[in-house]
Amino acid sequence: MLKPNKLANNNFLSSLDLSTDEVFHILDLAINFKNKKISVDLNNKVLGLIFDKSSTRTRVSFQVAMSRLGGTTIDLNPTTSQIGRGEPIKDTARVLSRYCDVIAIRTFEHSNLEEYAKWSTKPVINALTDLEHPCQALADFLTIYEEFLDFKDVVLTFIGDGNNVANSLILCGALLGVEVRIACPKGYEPDALIIKRANEIYKDKNLLKITDDPYKAVSGANVLYTDVWSSMGEENFKEKKDKDFKGFTIDKELLGNASKNAIVLHCLPAYRSKEITDEVIEGERSRIFDQAENRLHVQQALLSCLL
Ligand code: CP
Repeated sequence: MLKPNKLANNNFLSSLDLSTDEVFHILDLAINFKNKKISVDLNNKVLGLIFDKSSTRTRVSFQVAMSRLGGTTIDLNPTTSQIGRGEPIKDTARVLSRYCDVIAIRTFEHSNLEEYAKWSTKPVINALTDLEHPCQALADFLTIYEEFLDFKDVVLTFIGDGNNVANSLILCGALLGVEVRIACPKGYEPDALIIKRANEIYKDKNLLKITDDPYKAVSGANVLYTDVWSSMGEENFKEKKDKDFKGFTIDKELLGNASKNAIVLHCLPAYRSKEITDEVIEGERSRIFDQAENRLHVQQALLSCLL
């Protein structure tokens, strides 16, 4: 029976904390968890959840993952703990390390996550920052693998804001050698350092493409992926972003320009008729709810490797 291997890095802050082999190992484990071919007992280990922003999928999938692994979770709500009062991260991280075995954090600035990791003596997991969403990317590539059974010749086109989700797709795509195209309006390109790091990893230097033409980007693509145009905390920019992203909706017409076997992904929650139409979400090419389910299986795999 497949067994979880220890990861080289103690933390999972970025897709780049994993090697290519480790990504494949986590996907392999996740498939085994999904098919109930593996069982791991974490013997009452405790995952602390610090969420500075709302969450349904990430929070619940971590809670259920720990429960299935024989562990438990503590919800460290910033408003009812001293975190919301402004207790320094270095103090919180050292104290929580004495109680918890692993901590998953959703916050705004990536540097805050790094500060937790610096002071924590237990593994820290990125549950979403402004820079990356690496747990999401693992579930996304598991969904792609389930569909195509291989990453060879897969073309993944992300249409939307080149922020955290796009950044992690780029990095994980580079590790797996998948062609990643990002279609975003000018000014919404992915982080320059992420692009540089991905290009250093890709063996084929033509596999990462950034364009402001969604039709060009979906031509021949096997996976069309989008995310909300205005993330949590960007409510004041909503009107401007709705204007800037006009023409970047995944609708039936855009999907019709992709490969015939193309699937559609969205990390959810979605705004129907903004970044994607209801018809496409509910359509036969959508794998969006399999993708959401896969959050659970990859998180079981990740936790069993970190603990
Ligand atoms: N995709 C995702 O991270 O969903 P939640 O915000 O519900 O966790």
